[in-house]
Amino acid sequence: MDYAATGQEALSRIAEASDLDTLEALRVEFLGKQGSISGLLKTLGKLDPEARKVEGPKIHGLRESVSDALAARKDALETAALDARLADETIDLSLPAPEAPRGTVHPISQVMDEIAEIFADLGFSVATGPEIEDDWHNFTALNMPESHPARAMHDTFYFPDRDAQNREMLLRTHTSPVQMRTMLQQGAPLRIIAPGRVYRSDSDATHTPMFHQVEGLVIDKQVHLGHLKWTLETFLKAFFEREDIVLRLRPSYFPFTEPSVEADIGFTLIDGKRVIGGDPSKGEGGWMEVLGSGMVNRRVIEFAGLDPNEWQGFAFGIGIDRLAMLKYGMDDLRAFFDGDVRWLSHYGFSALDVPTLSGGVGTPA
Ligand code: PHE
Repeated sequence: MDYAATGQEALSRIAEASDLDTLEALRVEFLGKQGSISGLLKTLGKLDPEARKVEGPKIHGLRESVSDALAARKDALETAALDARLADETIDLSLPAPEAPRGTVHPISQVMDEIAEIFADLGFSVATGPEIEDDWHNFTALNMPESHPARAMHDTFYFPDRDAQNREMLLRTHTSPVQMRTMLQQGAPLRIIAPGRVYRSDSDATHTPMFHQVEGLVIDKQVHLGHLKWTLETFLKAFFEREDIVLRLRPSYFPFTEPSVEADIGFTLIDGKRVIGGDPSKGEGGWMEVLGSGMVNRRVIEFAGLDPNEWQGFAFGIGIDRLAMLKYGMDDLRAFFDGDVRWLSHYGFSALDVPTLSGGVGTPA
């Protein structure tokens, strides 16, 4: 049989293919599992040996020339596509720079810097940990074994695969695993904060699937609840830059602290707007929950390899987004993550506005 005509037709159709999709369709038509040339190859098996000797090289030759032509055409089309993109995406470096910088520092970044500045003054250093965590650091070591009901309250995002140690992997639901990581790495005594992103499957005007916390941890030999209360009050007064901050501590429950305390901050109503400060029990206003805290549970100290008869401490977890909203008067959390430049230029900060204790920890741009 003569395959020259078949080959000619295939090659000219390949040469005419004007885009990669068309070319791929041709490849399937000729060389795919059900392709015409693949079909010819299959007929070889049914031929007698003499005929096969004649036909075999012809069909293989045909297949080879078609496959070479496909590869060459693909190369040419890809090069042309890249050239077109390069021509399209040039930037004109001779254009003048914008008159004023357009970017602003996001309120979350600003507030994180403010928090770090205040705690640095109290002798805390900044620790970090991974956002992709394992189940042991996020839960088990914080006194939440597998069946613990508190796990369900965290609305955790799990990954499909486990890690090398067969631990379930997840997006950390709080910054508390950094407590464990830091104790394991640095031992005691310890005085750290750990700001960062956390993730929970939750979404409305006051909850986003990703939000920010700052963890605090102090481990030493004579630490008690009074130190915790003083630290929180001192921090909040410095953060809101006013002395009349009123804290209300409520007994609460966290598996990793005992006893556990949630803290509310008092606000008053001025022209219908919530303003932090003042004692709500003496007038109009109310309480806003801002953090969870407590004395580190003995079991957690043990998990960290320390002797709970020697070391104690306190820990707290503050919602950064919530604090930013309270301080700078935003009312919808979702706007924080929309990336709308109008919102950012209104609420953002100048890059030169570095928070310092002497200059003020937060003056809007
Ligand atoms: N990790 C807790 C939460 O996310 C907050 C917390 C931190 C409570 C440290 C006590 C001590 O809700």
